[in-house]
Amino acid sequence: MIKLKVNGDLHEVDAEADTPLLWVLRDFLGLRGTKFGCGKGLCGACTIHLNGKAMRSCQLPLSLAAEGDILTIEGLSSNASHNVQRAWQDNNVPQCGYCQSGQIMSAAALLASNANPTDTEIDTAMSGNLCRCGTYPRIRAAISQAAKDRGENT
Ligand code: FES
Ligand code: FES
Repeated sequence: MIKLKVNGDLHEVDAEADTPLLWVLRDFLGLRGTKFGCGKGLCGACTIHLNGKAMRSCQLPLSLAAEGDILTIEGLSSNASHNVQRAWQDNNVPQCGYCQSGQIMSAAALLASNANPTDTEIDTAMSGNLCRCGTYPRIRAAISQAAKDRGENT
């Protein structure tokens, strides 16, 4: 059994130490907001936070993930009230939606480390999150709005 902390809750998981965290989240814990895209660390659909940093959960072995605090889209807020989620709604960002939890988690990690990113910094931070629907302009607008909201709220 391996212990891990996800969204503030402690779990014990009967899985091999090298099992990718993405499989543990989806198949063992039923947290299916984190998506499987490429399985190779290339698309960002599986992005979660480990100790506040955006990570690709498909590339993160359970043994490493278990050493830190894991945050998934389900834990970002209980009612979609996180400033990034509000900005996503205001800007109608999603199209098919498949990539969006990964996009939101990357955006939230960016704003936690850089409260007022430039467009270039946003593009650089988000470059590993692919969207086949091409929602990139709305993603950038939503992140800029979330940065302003955060400034007004603090
Ligand atoms: S599924 Fe993890 S980066 Fe694509
Ligand atoms: S909204 Fe469809 S892949 Fe991004």
